[in-house]
Amino acid sequence: MLKEQLPAFAHHPTPFYLYDLELLKKTLSSARAEAEQYGYHVHYALKANANAPILAEILQQGFGADCVSGNEVKRALEAGFTPDQVVFAGVGKSDAEINFALQANIFCFNCESTQELEVIQELAAAQGKVAQVALRINPNVDAYTHKHITTGLEENKFGINLWELESLLPKFAQWPNLQLIGLHFHIGSQITDLRAYENLCVRVNEIQQWFEEQGILFPHLNVGGGLGVNYQQPEEQPIPDFKEYFGIFNRLLDKREGQQVHFELGRALVAQAGTLITKVLYIKNGQKTNFAILDAGMTELMRPALYQAYHKIENLTSSLPEKTYDVVGPICESTDCFSKEVTLPETKRGDIMAIRTAGAYGEVMANHYNLRDTVQSFYLS
Ligand code: LLP
Repeated sequence: MLKEQLPAFAHHPTPFYLYDLELLKKTLSSARAEAEQYGYHVHYALKANANAPILAEILQQGFGADCVSGNEVKRALEAGFTPDQVVFAGVGKSDAEINFALQANIFCFNCESTQELEVIQELAAAQGKVAQVALRINPNVDAYTHKHITTGLEENKFGINLWELESLLPKFAQWPNLQLIGLHFHIGSQITDLRAYENLCVRVNEIQQWFEEQGILFPHLNVGGGLGVNYQQPEEQPIPDFKEYFGIFNRLLDKREGQQVHFELGRALVAQAGTLITKVLYIKNGQKTNFAILDAGMTELMRPALYQAYHKIENLTSSLPEKTYDVVGPICESTDCFSKEVTLPETKRGDIMAIRTAGAYGEVMANHYNLRDTVQSFYLS
């Protein structure tokens, strides 16, 4: 599809992100249909991609917003999400961010430490408000994913540890401006071994049971996000298996009567809809390796440099016999490499390349190192 559409973008200077809004819509409606049958609430994690046209589709499909900074809360509200659709997570919320979210009357703060709860109490009291809060609990469940994107193990900085709960609970009696409404969990990202979610459900059930023994029933359970996508063969699985994902929670999570279950999906909703389009600047044939040097680099898509992440690369213009290349960017860093030993049709200066599955954690993580320009984005609908 990209090959045919590309001439329409020929006059745009590369590199740029190209988003397929048709695929985005299909992905969102698949997720919505699967979640809806169990009455689940999905909050889209804005950190994956906060572009206005993408948020507009997400809002239209009835998802809420999961934010991790004051600016994300602001962006969500500007995009049209109502305050009662917004949750605010993050291990280091500043006083200014908390004040802003309190003023906006967001639905819930997912809180990550005792000290943070104390600060929200203080700031809410000063504003004469009662803040709805959920405890983000570190469940010590392995997500079986890359260590840099695992969040639910005790050695990770996220969440309140289980052993802290006993001393924390009595403090709520001194916090009249906090209303404890739920529990929150998030164990990691790009989770493809779904047994991690089975283990999470078991742990959430135990934790919920413990709270009930202390006389606390929660109206809300938030089990986070993290569902992975198929980076290897995006064309074979453009839409993640939401049926299996939500089905696990329906089977294994002990949902109490009237309780609302929330999810925070980011990557699974937007990753496949985005492609980074880039031009080949130079070919350098070495004795051991041929390099294809692109005009996009780690400044536009940081994931390969940061997590050794794989993104499929295609040459959209050449149909010559194949050769092998290390595909690299122009940035003055050796880690500025998209992929090593990639088999591609013989590639020449000026060829157009597509770097797939870049809709999540691509453009949002772009930066200006080497004083690079801001990367542009365009939309196919
Ligand atoms: N909820 C919380 C509390 C989170 O920390 C995250 C992601 C999500 C939801 C959404 O997770 P998702 O469904 O998108 O996996 N930059 C990394 C990913 C970092 C994810 C951070 N937290 C990457 O490029 O792989």
